[in-house]
Amino acid sequence: MTWTNPLRDPRDRRLPRIAGPSALVIFGVTGDLARRKLMPAVYDLANRGLLPPGFALVGFARRSWSHEDFSEIVRDAVKQNSRTGFRQEVWDRLAEGIRFVQGEFGDDTAFDRLAETLRDLDETRGTDGNHAFYLSVPPDAFPTVCEQLKRSGLADGAGPENPEGGWRRVVIEKPFGHDLESAKQLNAVVNEVFPEQSVFRIDHYLGKETVQNILALRFANQLFEPMWNSHYVDHVQITMAEDIGLGGRAGYYDGIGAARDVIQNHLLQLMALVAMEEPTSFRPSELQSEKIKVLSAASLVEPLDETTARGQYGPGWQGSEKVVGLLQEDGFSHTSTTETYAAITVEIASRRWAGVPFYLRTGKRLGRRVTEIALVFKRAPHLPFDDTMTEELGHNALVIRVQPDEGVTLRFGSKVPGASMEVRDVNMDFSYGEAFTVASPEAYERLILDVLLGEPSLFPVNEEVELSWRILDPALEHWAANGHPEEYESGTWGPSSADAMLERTGRTWRRP
Ligand code: BG6
Repeated sequence: MTWTNPLRDPRDRRLPRIAGPSALVIFGVTGDLARRKLMPAVYDLANRGLLPPGFALVGFARRSWSHEDFSEIVRDAVKQNSRTGFRQEVWDRLAEGIRFVQGEFGDDTAFDRLAETLRDLDETRGTDGNHAFYLSVPPDAFPTVCEQLKRSGLADGAGPENPEGGWRRVVIEKPFGHDLESAKQLNAVVNEVFPEQSVFRIDHYLGKETVQNILALRFANQLFEPMWNSHYVDHVQITMAEDIGLGGRAGYYDGIGAARDVIQNHLLQLMALVAMEEPTSFRPSELQSEKIKVLSAASLVEPLDETTARGQYGPGWQGSEKVVGLLQEDGFSHTSTTETYAAITVEIASRRWAGVPFYLRTGKRLGRRVTEIALVFKRAPHLPFDDTMTEELGHNALVIRVQPDEGVTLRFGSKVPGASMEVRDVNMDFSYGEAFTVASPEAYERLILDVLLGEPSLFPVNEEVELSWRILDPALEHWAANGHPEEYESGTWGPSSADAMLERTGRTWRRP
C-alpha cells in the first residue's frame, strides 16, 4: 500500500515526495558504507522533512551494543558525513526511532528478536508493518539473511499486494555476483524469498542528479536528439577516473578488480541511458525495457587483446604525495593480478548505433577524479578553409560532466579574433553550481527515499544485471588467461595498452 499525503496532488511530480510510515533495517551496520553514506543519508532525508514521524532505523550487527550505543554511532556518522547541517531537534526526533539488534546472521533467536523489535515499533512508533531490509553485507551472506527473513516471517507478504497490510522490501548492494553464472544463482536465492517487485538493487550512479539529467537532456530537448546517432557521432567515451588508491579495501577489491567493481554496473548503466531509445513514458517498466533492449544488443568488439586494456597501479605521485603501488598496499597479496584499470570497447547492434564504438574506461590512482560521458562527433564532411586555418580544430563533442564539476560542455570550433581566419576549439558550459541555487541531494538520499516510496525506476532489475555480465564475461575470461596486468605509474592516465587500444583506430582518449 503506498501512502499518499492528502494535501498534495499526487500528479504534480514537482512536489517533494514524502515517505510513508516505515522501518529501515540495515544489516552490516558496522561497515564503511553504512557509516559514510547510509546513516548520513537517512538523517539528510529527515532534515529535509522527507521522512514521516512514524519512521524507525534499526541496526543489526554482531557487536554487543545497546540502543543508546548504536544511536551514538549513528550520531557520530551523521555529524561527520551528512550533507545538510546538524540540527538537534531533527536528530532528537530521529533518535527516538533508533533501535539495535545484536546477533549473527545464522542465529535464529537474533532474527526472532528483530521480528519482535519491528512488531514493537509498528505499535509504538507507528511504522505500520512497512519494513525495508538493507543488505549492506558481502554477497555470500545474502542466502543466510534472506533465509532468516523468511524463517522468522519477516518476509511474509513481500509480494506487491500484502493482504495483512504493510510492505516488505529488500535492498541489495553490489557486487551482484562475479560473473553471469553466479549472478543468476544470487538472483534465484533472493527471488526465492522476495519477488522481483520487492527487490531494490542499488547502483548508486543512478541516484546521481547528473545521471538522471541524461534523460532530461535527451528527451526534453529538440536540439540534441537529431544528432544522437551513427550519422553524426564518431564514438562515445565513458570515463570514471579516480585518484584514490585501494588502501584499506583489499578485503573487498582483491580478486574483484576494476571491471567487476564499476564497469559491470555503473558504466554499463550509463551506456544504456545514453544509447537507449525514448521510452513511451517514465513508468519504471518502460524505462527498464528500453535499457534492457540496449544491453541485449550490446557486445564487446573483438579481438579482445586489441580492444580491451587493463592495468595495475604501481608507485608514483598523487599530487605532492608519494604513494605506493597496489602490491604494496596493506592486505593485497604480492602476486595479486587484480586490475585497478580496465577499458573495453562495446558495440551496439542497432540502426542508431551501428559502427559507433562505445569506449568505457575506469581506473584508480589516475590523474584526477572525474566521471564524464563524451559524445565525440564526426568531422564536418567538408571544410572550406586552408588546412592551416583548422590545424587546431578537433572533433566537436558534447560532454556530460557527471562529477565532480557537474554540468554539460559543448565543444566546437570558433574563429580566433584577429585579421586572419584561424579556427580553434572552444567550450560552452552549463554548470549546476551556477544555474541552480539548490544543492543536489546525495545519490543515497534519493535511492533510500525511493525504496521507502516503492518507486523502482532507478534500480536495475535482475535481467539488466545478467545482461551486463553477459557483455563483460568474455573480457574477464580473456584477462584471466593472460597473466599479470600492465603496471602504470600512479598519478598518470593508465597503462600504455589503453592508449594503444584507441590509437589503432586513429582516436585518442580525452584528458578531462
Ligand atoms: C563504488 C565502487 O561503487 O563506487 C568504488 O565500489 C568507487 O570502488 C565508488 O570508489 C565511486 O563512487 P563515486 O560516487 O565516488 O564516484
